[in-house]
Amino acid sequence: MPKKVEMEKIVSLCQRRGFIFPSSEIYGGLSSCWDYGPLGVELKQNIKQAWWRAVVQQRDDMVGLDTSILMHPQTWVASGHLEGFSDPLVECKSCHLRWRSDDLEGNNCPSCGGELTEPRLFNLMFKTSMGPIEEEASVVYLRPETAQGMFVNFQNVLNTTRKKLPFGIAQIGKAFRNEITTGNFIFRSREFEQMEIEFFVKPGSDQEWFNYWLEERLNWYLKLGIDRQNLRLRPHRQEELAHYARECSDIDYLFPMGWAELEGIANRGDFDLAQHARYSGKSLNYLDEETKEHIIPYIIEPSAGVDRSVLAFLCDAYAEEADKNETRVLLHLHPTLAPIKVAVLPLSRRENLVAAAKKIYADLRQQWLVSYDDAQSIGRRYRRQDEIGTPLCVTVDFQSLEDEQVTIRDRDSMNQIRVPISELKNTLQAKLSGEPFDTQPLWTTG
Ligand code: GAP
Repeated sequence: MPKKVEMEKIVSLCQRRGFIFPSSEIYGGLSSCWDYGPLGVELKQNIKQAWWRAVVQQRDDMVGLDTSILMHPQTWVASGHLEGFSDPLVECKSCHLRWRSDDLEGNNCPSCGGELTEPRLFNLMFKTSMGPIEEEASVVYLRPETAQGMFVNFQNVLNTTRKKLPFGIAQIGKAFRNEITTGNFIFRSREFEQMEIEFFVKPGSDQEWFNYWLEERLNWYLKLGIDRQNLRLRPHRQEELAHYARECSDIDYLFPMGWAELEGIANRGDFDLAQHARYSGKSLNYLDEETKEHIIPYIIEPSAGVDRSVLAFLCDAYAEEADKNETRVLLHLHPTLAPIKVAVLPLSRRENLVAAAKKIYADLRQQWLVSYDDAQSIGRRYRRQDEIGTPLCVTVDFQSLEDEQVTIRDRDSMNQIRVPISELKNTLQAKLSGEPFDTQPLWTTG
């Protein structure tokens, strides 16, 4: 059976432990905007880094970009966003709340039951103006997707990297959508981050690459620990395809509110390059050296949400286990994603113990993000680390002062092993890389 956790538990953990806070909370918060706290920012960073490593740095056929959020307004004419990036909006005639009509089940206001207006199209792009004078000519938009920055740089990338088809461009960055209905914590917000790939291929090979990326992206989530039962592929029906898409499939995750899109993989055909060539008057062709023909490449686009990934990884990692008379809350986060990799815990605050623990702490933090905690009982400290997903704890006790050994405790199994301090770094590295944890001491105490 797929596993579903309640959203309240995730929200509560995130606020309690400093993963995610409501934006501008001291002013009452700002609807659907969120701030990442000290642990959240590390988790998010680790997700982005894992994605960047996998899709850019470990491949020969990909390069990265970081393009600006504000783009020439013609971009949005060419892309179709100015005309077509709209949702149908209805308003309640009594309470004046606004709804997306395609989200509603009945014909009345879900809040007060009042009568609704006829739907009208509402463009989701945020408008602002550039320069000191606010006038029609100075209107620019906050990008609603990072994709367009990569399309308009296609020729720059070709000229400077001499890449040959098939190759791709990747980008991570903020996107903004004036969503009519938001909610479900960070699932749908008005300011969010995307991790997008635009993969350029020869027409005719697009189906093969579409299938390739579908599998590749699904495997990325699996490798980072998401349970296969909580993921599914959902091909789009013809009538729900975006205006640019020939084919699209979502990778859905079983979020607390049900199955919903985590990432979309689309075959965009030649729509984008052809449109930008037409509107800019610049050639965005590719010279096929085999056939000596100029072609417009097709684009396969795997587009993932960073915030939705954060939510999916948190939901999937969350567990409650009975432990003696208490409930142990823990995040089984993959070590690559865990905000803190190791916690160093001296058994007491005795001076000589603290000095030994601090020395180990100083050494380990050269390599990983490490936490030092000497407050309260050792059991409470283990629980605190479990709850934020720290894979390993190193306990320094009085015996350590004599035998130069410390205890490593595993978050998931709670098993412990004792190792010489001289071998600590190597052992931690091996365990963080997935070496199984057993209770057998690796070294005899002699
Ligand atoms: N360039 C294609 C594109 O933007 P999309 O399906 O509209 O496609 C891609 O968005 C991904 O961006 C989604 O799968 C989702 O993870 C994320 N996303 C979209 N709108 C979002 C929102 N309002 N809040 C959080 N994430 C969002």
